[in-house]
Amino acid sequence: MRPHDYQFIRDIVYRHSRINLGEDKQELVSARLGKRLRATGKASIGEYCDLLRSPSGSDELGNLIDVISTNHTYFFREEGHFSALRDIILPDLVRRRTTESWAALRLWSAACSSGEEPYSVAIALDEYFNAHPPSWPRQIEATDISSRILAKAEAGIYPAETVSRLPAAMAKTYFQTGYGEQTGLFRVKPAIRDIVRFRRLNLLEGQPPFTEPFQIILCRNVMIYFDRPTQEELVNRLKARLVPGGYLLVGHSESLTGINHGLKLIRPATYQKPLR
Ligand SMILES: C[S@@+](CC[C@H](N)C(=O)[O-])C[C@H]1O[C@@H](n2cnc3c(N)ncnc32)[C@H](O)[C@@H]1O
Repeated sequence: MRPHDYQFIRDIVYRHSRINLGEDKQELVSARLGKRLRATGKASIGEYCDLLRSPSGSDELGNLIDVISTNHTYFFREEGHFSALRDIILPDLVRRRTTESWAALRLWSAACSSGEEPYSVAIALDEYFNAHPPSWPRQIEATDISSRILAKAEAGIYPAETVSRLPAAMAKTYFQTGYGEQTGLFRVKPAIRDIVRFRRLNLLEGQPPFTEPFQIILCRNVMIYFDRPTQEELVNRLKARLVPGGYLLVGHSESLTGINHGLKLIRPATYQKPLR
């Protein structure tokens, strides 16, 4: 890839998603663009950049961001967050539920990728409230910048390799087994799918379409792409969407050190907004 083409791709990706591609990501980007070159019939990255500059370029931009951003995820990723939910966060929220006017437990999976994260949380909440009645209505909002990945998430269909890593009893309780053409595939059961709503959202653009605040926000493994000022802006935007005493869960490799946020670290990668 010619250096000025790489610079152009870096700039346009940054402007539209704030994903900050380093100087050393040229090879990775080049490999990922291969797919888009084939899909658009362009013979070189130079030609592909011309397409992005042309009036029809804005239609292609979403596809470009899709291939650049990594969607890697899996069920019950970062177990520490699930034990924090069970041991600290849910008992605390349940205790405060009676004094606060919280009709529902609201949770936001802010970069949900193909759905494994919000579905894992929905399953964890179901297990928790089955073991600790009374139940509490739940609403999970799940957003991502990529429409392609959201379509997968909404379908909630996963290959056997993915589901077989879960405890057998959990897989049986929460997944339907595919037959015929669907053999080898598993689908999240409707009771879990129904509490998760998927929507496209660029975390760094405009206002999230929510009117009510959340008790818990997960924003995991997306901030690593952003530079410090963008991370700070994002963390503060998320904080504004939390109830007082609400919880923000970030990826375990995403340190918020050096960021002004006013949140309290209560466990690794687990923060709480002050109560007052
Ligand atoms: C590595 S996945 C993380 C998925 C999940 N949170 C986890 O930890 O397993 C990162 C996701 O962030 C999304 N993403 C990247 N930039 C974004 C932005 N500006 N707004 C919203 N989502 C974004 C990508 O499309 C991708 O699905």
